[in-house]
Amino acid sequence: MRICVLGGDGYLGWPTAMYFSARGHSVLAVDNCMKRRLEAELDVIPLEDVPDFKQRAERWNVLTGWEIEVVRGDITQADLMNQICVNFHPEVIVHFAEQPSAPYSMIGRDAAVLTQQNNIVGTLNVMFAMREHCPDAELVKLGTMGEYGTPNIDIEEGWIEITHKGRSDRLPYPKRPSSLYHCSKVHDSVNLEFACRSWGLRVTDLNQGVVYGIETDEMSLDRKALRTSFHYDDVFGTVLNRFVVQAAIGMPLTVYGKGGQTRSFLNIKDTLQCVELASVNPASRGEFRVFNQFTELFSILELAERVKRVAQARGLCVEIQGVANPRVESELHYYNAANTSLLALGLKPHLLSDELLDGMLERALEARNQIRERLIPPRVDWKRGMAAVTSAAAGFEAAPEPEREPAAATA
Ligand SMILES: NC(=O)c1ccc[n+]([C@@H]2O[C@H](COP(=O)([O-])OP(=O)(O)OC[C@H]3O[C@@H](n4cnc5c(N)ncnc54)[C@H](O)[C@@H]3O)[C@@H](O)[C@H]2O)c1
Repeated sequence: MRICVLGGDGYLGWPTAMYFSARGHSVLAVDNCMKRRLEAELDVIPLEDVPDFKQRAERWNVLTGWEIEVVRGDITQADLMNQICVNFHPEVIVHFAEQPSAPYSMIGRDAAVLTQQNNIVGTLNVMFAMREHCPDAELVKLGTMGEYGTPNIDIEEGWIEITHKGRSDRLPYPKRPSSLYHCSKVHDSVNLEFACRSWGLRVTDLNQGVVYGIETDEMSLDRKALRTSFHYDDVFGTVLNRFVVQAAIGMPLTVYGKGGQTRSFLNIKDTLQCVELASVNPASRGEFRVFNQFTELFSILELAERVKRVAQARGLCVEIQGVANPRVESELHYYNAANTSLLALGLKPHLLSDELLDGMLERALEARNQIRERLIPPRVDWKRGMAAVTSAAAGFEAAPEPEREPAAATA
């Protein structure tokens, strides 16, 4: 198939581009490298250097003989999306190209506007370009489980049968997004459901859990030149990455609030499988299909305990420390979400194992001299934005980075 991967320079987009290329599909990867610009503005760096977008693709092409074609461009420019649809004529568009961080969207007004403009306008451009130039293609769009929030009822896959005052209907599942970033995803979903219903587009909205892991089969061809990003900072990092890095440098694992927040998770290898399953089993014309894309549920405290156990098995000294929760969220709640659709299509989950955690820890230990401890404590408060928290810093001072022993000596 001809598959266009929007956001092809990202944590998930780059491994997806390689995954499809390795299976013989024609792949066009598109990215404006906005994420790298935002990282620079916030003075954030990933754990390991991430090779340049074009250089990574060139390396892949030379190594494998397959070709990932690369376009550097911004999908909020309507002309770009139109050109892609006219010239490449995709059969599948996998859309990762959004600002993906909840804390980033809560920094303040400008960051919230950037997030919502970038995400919603980009998706509108994809919709219109598809309607005009490739109406039969499928859009596989990345949404998130955070769109649902934590309702006190079971979470269905995008739709719910409701009986109200004696009448019944199948309606979009009510969503209560947990940040202004999550709101942008809900707005996308509303627009896409409308486009399917009105224009006959075919869309699969993947409501994805938190992804962990930095290893895929394709990356193992050249771990340095083909690797993907690993963020551990408070803005772009995810919770498991943060705990692993904290364990590696002897910093307490910081659990926000009571730690009873339950979230859904999946291995990056399963993201690749799910996106493939959604692509090769497309939605019908006019169908807005929603899959909840996760394999396991954990509370934040459970995750901290898992990382602690694995780190202790290596002889590392690890503590868990509760800190004031910068987010507005329930810390103890009911959570039961359906995820049967992708399993029914054939998803074979890779569950979170001690071996995988140990592998992540190994990578963090190898890179421990590059870890910037000051980037880890939460700086963005859901009620007051970034500046207020930087000054209050919840017990953390931005201290100079300590000298560390080489990893081998500790590990
Ligand atoms: N990583 C996760 O755990 C996770 C969980 C749920 C959902 N998601 C969603 O999956 C998608 C990918 O996430 P990720 O972690 O790979 O994020 P990422 O930031 O690493 O990748 C997104 C890429 O899109 C690019 N991009 C953003 N706006 C663009 C635009 N206007 N034009 C062209 N390129 C643009 C960025 O430069 C970046 O390279 C996002 O939509 C995110 O919301 C991610």
